[in-house]
Amino acid sequence: MKKIVVCISGASGVCYAKRLLEVLKEKNVETHLIISNSSKKIIKHELNTDIEEFIELSDRYYENEDFFSPLASGSYIFDAAVVIPCSMKTLSSIANGYSNNLICRVCDIALKERRKLIVMPREMPLNAIHLENMLKLSKLGVIIMPPIPGFYGKPKTIEDIIDFIVGRVLDSLGLENELFKRWGE
Ligand SMILES: Cc1cc2nc3c(=O)[nH]c(=O)nc-3n(C[C@H](O)[C@H](O)[C@H](O)COP(=O)(O)O)c2cc1C
Repeated sequence: MKKIVVCISGASGVCYAKRLLEVLKEKNVETHLIISNSSKKIIKHELNTDIEEFIELSDRYYENEDFFSPLASGSYIFDAAVVIPCSMKTLSSIANGYSNNLICRVCDIALKERRKLIVMPREMPLNAIHLENMLKLSKLGVIIMPPIPGFYGKPKTIEDIIDFIVGRVLDSLGLENELFKRWGE
């Protein structure tokens, strides 16, 4: 069974993280969840809910300041980490090895242990610092997955668009899914 660390940082688009947690639960994938302080407020603002709903969807939850958690050590094995959504601040911390919270520490571990790391940066427009940080991570093997929907599947609802984005994340995790209509189907 796959063990996936889901990291939610303070960018717009926490709906993607919620949907990812829902689908991973349906697929019986073990999830370890970390939510940054900024994203806790954004969850309340964007989804009119609190983090309890997110925590219930996960198998284990950790505070972002908890460096005593198993996740803070490279000796604890996980299959992949996903930062969804990823703020420009967290992107910068990851790209510069500045592990001042558990999310950034997990990403640092994923990089040093050569484990799968998926980052969903969310900002627009992007400045050169953002782009350089993404390029730096991409060169290290990180999968950079901005939430940019394709419209060839003719989405009708916001949920369709969210499922397209989350379905592509599942593809990158190597998890079969039928969340969206694929080209040629
Ligand atoms: C409602 C709201 C939306 C935000 N959206 C973004 C965003 O899309 N991208 C981004 O980089 N920062 C965004 N921010 C700013 C970050 O939350 C802020 O830079 C914070 O320090 C990020 O910290 P974290 O990465 O540790 O969660 C947003 C803040 C708020 C309050």
